[in-house]
Amino acid sequence: MNIFGSSRSPINGWNSKKSKFLHRRFSLPVFALLSGSFFLLYLFSSYSSFMPSTAFSTSNSRKCSSRILDLGERFLFYAPHSGFSNQLSEFKNAILMAWILNRTLVVPPILDHHAVALGSCPKFRVTDPGEIRFSVWEHMLELLRNGRYVSMADIVDISSLASYSSIKAIDFRTFAYLWCGVDLESVCSNEYNLKQCGRLLAGLDGNVDKCLHAVDEDCRTTVWTYKNGEVDGALDVFQPNEQLKKKKNVSYVRRRRDVYRALGPDSKAELAAVLSFGSLFTAPYKGSELYIDIHEVSGDQRISSLIKSIEYLPFVPEILSAGKEYIDKIIKAPFLCAQLRLLDGQFKNHWNATFLALEQKLDLILQDGNEPVHVFVMTDLPESNWTGSYLRHLARDSNHFKLFLLKEHDELVQRASKKVMVVGHGLRSTSSAFGPSRIHDMKNKCTSERLPDILLYIEETVCSCASLGFLGTAGSTIAESIELMRKYGLCSDQNSTPS
Ligand SMILES: *[C@@H]1O[C@H](CO)[C@@H](O)[C@H](O)[C@H]1NC(C)=O
Ligand SMILES: *[C@@H]1O[C@H](CO)[C@@H](O)[C@H](O)[C@H]1NC(C)=O
Ligand SMILES: *[C@@H]1O[C@H](CO)[C@@H](O)[C@H](O)[C@H]1NC(C)=O
Ligand SMILES: *[C@@H]1O[C@H](CO)[C@@H](O)[C@H](O)[C@H]1NC(C)=O
Repeated sequence: MNIFGSSRSPINGWNSKKSKFLHRRFSLPVFALLSGSFFLLYLFSSYSSFMPSTAFSTSNSRKCSSRILDLGERFLFYAPHSGFSNQLSEFKNAILMAWILNRTLVVPPILDHHAVALGSCPKFRVTDPGEIRFSVWEHMLELLRNGRYVSMADIVDISSLASYSSIKAIDFRTFAYLWCGVDLESVCSNEYNLKQCGRLLAGLDGNVDKCLHAVDEDCRTTVWTYKNGEVDGALDVFQPNEQLKKKKNVSYVRRRRDVYRALGPDSKAELAAVLSFGSLFTAPYKGSELYIDIHEVSGDQRISSLIKSIEYLPFVPEILSAGKEYIDKIIKAPFLCAQLRLLDGQFKNHWNATFLALEQKLDLILQDGNEPVHVFVMTDLPESNWTGSYLRHLARDSNHFKLFLLKEHDELVQRASKKVMVVGHGLRSTSSAFGPSRIHDMKNKCTSERLPDILLYIEETVCSCASLGFLGTAGSTIAESIELMRKYGLCSDQNSTPS
């Protein structure tokens, strides 16, 4: 982009004789160049291209839509990423943050598996908050445009949170309509410059008074705490080691900071209509937490109770009943669930250990008689690739084992998927307070909606009810989710109880 650079030199030297001469001499090409620039400008604006921060992209985009300011409401946006289990854990953290900061939570859609990645906190190699917010914004709009938008609240049942009157939520689509100040219908036709309002929300051009506070603290520098009696700003126990500091030439220090003090009532952030977090991913690490360390608050009954309520958020009833129907009508007997993660990342190298664990579990069950043993298998390894693996052996040994698998195209899964879309819990539970009913118009204008892929959620439900036990893949977040569902005793005939 050398538009300004090339036209500036003759203008700068306007008064000097030499350049006057130059100017006259080159006036034709300069004129051509200038009008060329304006044509380019015109092209850029009409094709709403993403322009890296240049002088003219920032000035008029750094304004909040009056539509959002006039509401007098305060919102919390964040950037979910990675796989579903990760997005769900971020969603829970977001509910907690929204409650602490008394802000209306923007409920995101479910992002495609690993469409947006964070990187590794322990290695201090993560995407900057602004960048991840912008990628998430782009991906969310893409989901809308190609008819694949499914709200997190369409899948996960947040109705139990209604008892907390101070928890408010808004659907991302409604929020985008308010934030960008455009007709939502235009989101699908892409005729407005939605990239600009995405940039603004991401904080790529900085904070804007009363409008936006973009949180730039991430897991490299900050562990958020809340009213835990610690000194605010104390060093965390986990710090980058000297080797890393040298190698990367970084001077990161991780501090533990009270989120209410930093971003609550007495802070600058409080005045902004929108508080925009990056990732809200956290996990225990080396005796600390990577980003959020809020587990209990002594002396505050309400937040302790909220933390308990969000530990387990069930799937919506349509998904739960599909899982139960599969058990009652198809499996029809006590069964074991084997969740075998075999392809992604680290799991590729652990086939032997994973299959050995399954074999041992099945041997134990076989000792108790009752053949064939019913086994529900959920795995990312397609059946056509089972050749030579223990799974093929199981499938062949029909005297001892009867295997069950669900597929995305099974009638039961498709039927449940349709129901989930028709009911649309997401918009019901979130948009009434602010909502234009226009979301429905918007849906009509967009590409016709495809059925969401809800196979994973039904499989998890089935596994949570496996009465002969559950065998998960070590280190898989899906296995963790299922263990959690089992702990909360989703199935009435199970004797475990919520703790
Ligand atoms: C929370 O925000 C609402 C407005 O959105 C306000 O009416 C209420 O007083 C706030 N509550 C607290 C505890 O600050
Ligand atoms: C490391 O960063 C500092 C500034 O943060 C800079 O002055 C210095 O030159 C850098 N060193 C190397 C080896 O890149
Ligand atoms: C897995 O087991 C097979 C046969 O038991 C063996 O040939 C193979 O080397 C093992 N693979 C790994 C990665 O240990
Ligand atoms: C699965 O099978 C297909 C062909 O049937 C093959 O191209 C692919 O590499 C296999 N994948 C694995 C993980 O074995």
